Amino acid sequence: MNHTISNKIENRDAIVAVMGLGYVGLPLALAFAERGFKTIGFDISEMTVEQVKNGETSVLDVSNHRLQTALFEGKLVPTSDPGLLSQVDAVIICVPTPLTSSHEPDVSAIESAVSLIKAHIIKPVFISLESTTYPGCTREVIVKPLVETGKHLDEDLFICFSPERVDPGNALYHTENTPKVVGGISEASIQIGEMLYKQVIDQVVVVSSPEVAEMSKLLENTFRCVNIAFMNEMSLMCDRLGIDIWETLDAAETKPFGFMRFNPGPGVGGHCIPLDPMYLSWKAKQTNFFSRFIETAQDINSNMPKKVVEKATNLLNEQGAAISKSKILLLGMSYKKNINDLRESPSLEVYEELLSKNAIVEYCDPYVPFFKTKSGVLQNSLDWETLHLKDFDLVILLTNHTDFDREKINREASLLLDTRHRSSHKMPVH
Ligand SMILES: NC(=O)c1ccc[n+]([C@@H]2O[C@H](COP(=O)([O-])OP(=O)(O)OC[C@H]3O[C@@H](n4cnc5c(N)ncnc54)[C@H](O)[C@@H]3O)[C@@H](O)[C@H]2O)c1
Repeated sequence: MNHTISNKIENRDAIVAVMGLGYVGLPLALAFAERGFKTIGFDISEMTVEQVKNGETSVLDVSNHRLQTALFEGKLVPTSDPGLLSQVDAVIICVPTPLTSSHEPDVSAIESAVSLIKAHIIKPVFISLESTTYPGCTREVIVKPLVETGKHLDEDLFICFSPERVDPGNALYHTENTPKVVGGISEASIQIGEMLYKQVIDQVVVVSSPEVAEMSKLLENTFRCVNIAFMNEMSLMCDRLGIDIWETLDAAETKPFGFMRFNPGPGVGGHCIPLDPMYLSWKAKQTNFFSRFIETAQDINSNMPKKVVEKATNLLNEQGAAISKSKILLLGMSYKKNINDLRESPSLEVYEELLSKNAIVEYCDPYVPFFKTKSGVLQNSLDWETLHLKDFDLVILLTNHTDFDREKINREASLLLDTRHRSSHKMPVH
């Protein structure tokens, strides 16, 4: 174990850098700053850094007040100057890991973070990768290039993978009280990793390698993706059989063992559930292993927005109306309730699909005041309080934001397609 780094961590003298100040990195940087660590919040986006410097953020789980306090106390130093990395004892990488246009893992942001580490870090350092990625990535993309520069493991470098499990908007579980899995490249790496994370997280779960930690994250999110897909298929089947899926789920859920509820919906969104299983299936394919579960789940989930539009068309037809020229209101653009994240949101696809059918579409989302359509047109949200649902031929509820009170929906919507069961008095668990 490197006693200089571990002593500094114990005394809270270690300087910690968090690379990437997004949904994952900013709450983590703040957690370290609030525990007394000088924390460099590094981001390549000057706009993001300026915003954080001004004590403002759109990351929901971080209040401007908390941010401003950490800035005022000088514990959080937001910067886009990589030169500051030369001071640090620990670096935590929280950069995006999207897919390429051919649906393969895009780890270029991790590679660019590693290039900055190579160029600027001059003393022994602990590095933890938190970005979701495929098993083997930490070894390939972080360990290998750094060791090739002549740095030595367990002398100059201590490296872990520790997946981030943050659930934006979750009032119960946040950075500090969500158990953290950590897998190190060596015994000394894991000792430092465990010690560092214990400073800010209640429970640290040590596993035997970075690969187990990488795989655990993908398994968690693939589990969720597959189960949501299964419920989506069940809801389509129930439609065909003329059975209410929600009442069925409420009944199934009364079983006190052997059942875990997931809910159907208009599809899946966010940076995790639609993407993470693709990282896993890509890696598995390299060993000629083809995951039928992942392919099937992706196929079902990605078709759900089209199914919503099909259902909307049928509902209107039953009223003797055509979808073309019908006035349709979408309730909710973000991919899940009570957050402002539009990434991969199925609502966007429903919106575009309705437009392509010449419907007149408007939306209301208290968390998303505006968004840009595929053709670049800026759309503004209608105001929920002053909105008259009666003005629309059809209302489609896509996100069950708490703001959407069911009494108003039930009272005013002349025709409703509720993909989340929001209009019912029995609310779903997930
Ligand atoms: N958002 C979630 O709910 C969530 C949950 C668990 C895990 N994750 C994973 O965490 C990672 C980060 O996700 P996020 O939601 O915070 O992304 P984000 O897009 O909100 O933030 C990422 C930030 O990294 C910055 N960045 C990009 N390249 C950089 C570089 N080379 N150096 C420094 N900064 C750089 C971007 O400017 C951006 O501000 C992803 O791998 C994601 O899959 C996300």
